[in-house]
Amino acid sequence: MVIFGAGGDLTKRLLVPALYNLATTGLLPEHFELIGVDLADLDAGKWRDSLLEMMQSFVGKAASESRIDKIDEATWKRLTGRLSYIKGDFGDDGLYNELKRQLDQKTGTGGNCLFYLAIADRFFGPVVQNLGKAGLFEENWDQDGKKPEHWRHVVIEKPFGHDEESAKALNAAILRCAQEHQIYRIDHFLGKETVQNIMALRFANGMFEPLWNRDRIDHVQITVAETVGVESRGRFYEKTGALRDMVPNHVFQLLAMVAMEPPAGFDAKAVRSRKSDVFAAMRTVAPEDAVRGQYGPGPNGVAGYRQEKDVAPDSGTETYVAMRLAIDNWRWAGVPFYVRTGKHMSRRVSEIAIRFKPAPYAPFEDTDVAALAPNWLLLQIQPDEGIALQFEVKRPGPAVDLAAVRMAFKYADWFPKEPNIGYETLIYDVMTGDQTLFNRADMVEETWRVVGKVLENWSQEKPDNVLNYASGSDGPTSADDLLTRQGHAWRAVADDGHAH
Ligand code: BG6
Repeated sequence: MVIFGAGGDLTKRLLVPALYNLATTGLLPEHFELIGVDLADLDAGKWRDSLLEMMQSFVGKAASESRIDKIDEATWKRLTGRLSYIKGDFGDDGLYNELKRQLDQKTGTGGNCLFYLAIADRFFGPVVQNLGKAGLFEENWDQDGKKPEHWRHVVIEKPFGHDEESAKALNAAILRCAQEHQIYRIDHFLGKETVQNIMALRFANGMFEPLWNRDRIDHVQITVAETVGVESRGRFYEKTGALRDMVPNHVFQLLAMVAMEPPAGFDAKAVRSRKSDVFAAMRTVAPEDAVRGQYGPGPNGVAGYRQEKDVAPDSGTETYVAMRLAIDNWRWAGVPFYVRTGKHMSRRVSEIAIRFKPAPYAPFEDTDVAALAPNWLLLQIQPDEGIALQFEVKRPGPAVDLAAVRMAFKYADWFPKEPNIGYETLIYDVMTGDQTLFNRADMVEETWRVVGKVLENWSQEKPDNVLNYASGSDGPTSADDLLTRQGHAWRAVADDGHAH
């Protein structure tokens, strides 16, 4: 595995801990070797030390994303024992010649190589082109053309383009040097167990499918709320914003899991084609169906976005976005999908809430029941992973009255928690050649098309048009209007776990 951006945050905080977890569970190949590439002035020893230091900072920290109970010396040695480091400029031919020389010497790996681009997006195209120029994507195929003698795969992080045009240009550029089966456009949300489970819930149970359509579902709400701000990423975030950072990628992946048709099988072609159908059927969002906001200062001296490091004092970048989406196909016509995501919100929660159409009220007309509460199916992605179903029961007592209650499954009650930061499955899939959980070229292009008009519209507005919301709140109140227009309302972000 060759990591471009070896000295970066993603490598230290997520990739290496994930590789360590794979080594612990015995899923790293015996002859695994790691090569780090970066501009930073490091050598193999210094790089290894910096990785270990970061790993040690995670030990025993339950709240840390890469929680590890203890670093096992033998496992760490297996992972980093044969590690090397190449210092170089991503634009320099010499770097790729040196990489080729080193790879040719690594006989234990059988020529297989995974290139991971954990680098700023402006380098994606040039690095892939340079790898191609150096002949590093060559796979010798067997006589039937069915299996390469060795494989060469490249993982490309997000953001993959910043609009439809740039995504198309990037696809065209990389497809000139590598083939689609070698390209793994990663979205780390798909590494989350709860996201993968949506397919299991829908397609391994017979009871949901008959309800899963416009006849029974009233609308769907997808929330990805974070309590963190932009942290130290002001420079990246200023030109990205909440929409580009979260919506066409993470949020749409959640939506596709809910909205896709049953695939004919669970192979990459079948699953990705069904998801691609969803993206293609999504209507391009009209500017009036999107609301953006920016966090202002909050209680206890919490800084507003414009006071953050590397952020312009008059910045118009959004840290919150809400949208009303429509999918124009037989299953979903007329069913709104409301999505929202933001930073510095009241609670960290990622959840998909499916609201069913109400039962007829007529039989209750002569009772104390004033209205029937809706049924909700809640897919809780994080942090309290689980699934809950809300329904009405009779409130105990002589009068006919109802109460909404919740039946809840929690992962933690059924399965031991394994150290898992979500990248393990994805890295393992790249090594085994399984593209199911990765984006195909057409998928990313379609998702950018869906949000294109909104992005264009915002780019022409004045920075002060972005609405303010207090840190620790649930976003600007005008986001409510997106729903009230249709008689709906957002579910509370700071849910108390009781039925509403
Ligand atoms: C990243 C975004 O892709 O996803 C971040 O760039 C965001 O801004 C993060 O915080 C959320 O991922 P997770 O796994 O922490 O929910």
